[in-house]
Amino acid sequence: MSEHTDCCFCAANMDEQAKYEQIAQVIDTYKEKEGSLIMVLHSAQQIYGYLPLELQKFIADRMGLPLSEVYGVVSFYSFFSMTERGRHTIRICLGTACYVRGGKKLVDALEEKLQVKVGGVTADKKFTLEVARCIGACGLAPAIMVDNDVYKTMSPATLDSMLNQY
Ligand code: FES
Repeated sequence: MSEHTDCCFCAANMDEQAKYEQIAQVIDTYKEKEGSLIMVLHSAQQIYGYLPLELQKFIADRMGLPLSEVYGVVSFYSFFSMTERGRHTIRICLGTACYVRGGKKLVDALEEKLQVKVGGVTADKKFTLEVARCIGACGLAPAIMVDNDVYKTMSPATLDSMLNQY
């Protein structure tokens, strides 16, 4: 059974073994270079979608590094994820300005629309739903960020047009 997905270089299109083989190639290309661990982890996350512990072990072994070093880097930087993620990340701001102007209603509406709780991934793996403290758009609260795009003065009624961009 094959499944159509809407991205071209997509983890969902490759089986587990193919993903590991591709990551092995990346490691072999970069492992002798100084400071290559972060580059390898970035590529591995792009290929695999996230960085579970098993994959970190594989990377550590192949790079000749202790697992603790790999784990330390993955857990230090917020752009690395150890849990599965959607192709797009929605961050609803719940900083003070957004909270008092209805941020919580946006959380409830999006949880309902996407059928996922904050911290989760939608069934089609399209979105990860998260909350944030402040995304720098307090003057036009409440705000939501999807990947690198900021949506301002949002309301439950404007969520569909935002989601339709993706
Ligand atoms: S509090 Fe939401 S953008 Fe600052």
